[in-house]
Amino acid sequence: MHASTTDLLNEIEQFSFHQSSDLDAFKNLFLGKKGKIAVLFEKLKDLPVEERKAFGAEVNRLKDVAQQKWTVFQQQTELLLDQDDQQKDFDFTLPDVPGRSGSRHPISLVKTEIVQVFERLGFNLALGPEIEDDWHNFTALNFPADHPAREMQDTFFISRSPDIALRTHTSSVQIRTMERLKPPIRSIAPGRVFRNEAISARAHCLFHQVEGFYIDRGVSFKDLKDTLYHFCKELFFKEIEIRFRPSFFPFTEPSAEMDITCLLCKGKGCNVCKQSGWVEIGGAGMIHPEVMRNCGIDPDEFTGFAFGMGIERITMLKYQIKDLRLFTENDVRFLNQFQAVT
Ligand code: DAH
Repeated sequence: MHASTTDLLNEIEQFSFHQSSDLDAFKNLFLGKKGKIAVLFEKLKDLPVEERKAFGAEVNRLKDVAQQKWTVFQQQTELLLDQDDQQKDFDFTLPDVPGRSGSRHPISLVKTEIVQVFERLGFNLALGPEIEDDWHNFTALNFPADHPAREMQDTFFISRSPDIALRTHTSSVQIRTMERLKPPIRSIAPGRVFRNEAISARAHCLFHQVEGFYIDRGVSFKDLKDTLYHFCKELFFKEIEIRFRPSFFPFTEPSAEMDITCLLCKGKGCNVCKQSGWVEIGGAGMIHPEVMRNCGIDPDEFTGFAFGMGIERITMLKYQIKDLRLFTENDVRFLNQFQAVT
């Protein structure tokens, strides 16, 4: 390349645009009638014939480069000016467009409602860690060392020996509260729990429970039934039936599973209640003496009941939701329906 064209190419490339007036400056400097490229074209006629063709091609290329650089900046400038114009036309005194407000998640709404019913009965809110040790999640709750619930397929372990895992139920908070307080204790503990389960319409690896318990002198199974019956009537605002089926949990004796009338079919039988008219909402029972001892409470002096309920299940019944996955998919069409409730 000829030295003069190389120098000019560098100059063109190094030119930087800062403001719209630079467009004219660039044009005059390089592309105008008296610009630097025109000067080179002038030189053409003084060159020997055999050099003219190659030099002419170089200068033409320079012109293309300069023209292209100018066009790119000109287009950008136009865009910016358009935006400026739009902003000038905007009337900043216009009133605000009423925006859609967010809504609380149905699980959160129902959790709050459950806690409020129990708070009115004198229960205190308790919270515990989601990452738990073996003692609080299993051992203190009287789970035998070989209990299947401890196994890998149910529990998300974070480490082994010492075993640290994502809590599989909120009963761990019951232990922490019993260790901390002296009876009488009335405690309600909502929270997230984790189990290694395949996700489907009826099961999830992450869900919510609420744990409650009451320890005092002379607490009986009747108190448990009355409390939970009262709770169901408060929460669902309708004539609802509740039934207890004998069951087993290592931390309660006797133990029961609690069913309530299926509200989706009003007890007639549907897919959700497997045609039985009843749906299980949780487990309950009288706190096992061994669990009391593990937490330093004398079972000869005190008795207590405990219960654990699934918040998803209760929410599904309350709002006629048929698929558990809706709670975690964050579909705004689903979530927006709870705006009125918030
Ligand atoms: N922790 C039990 C579960 O996750 C539920 C439960 C049953 C809690 C009985 C209790 C209880 O406090 O007494 O399946």
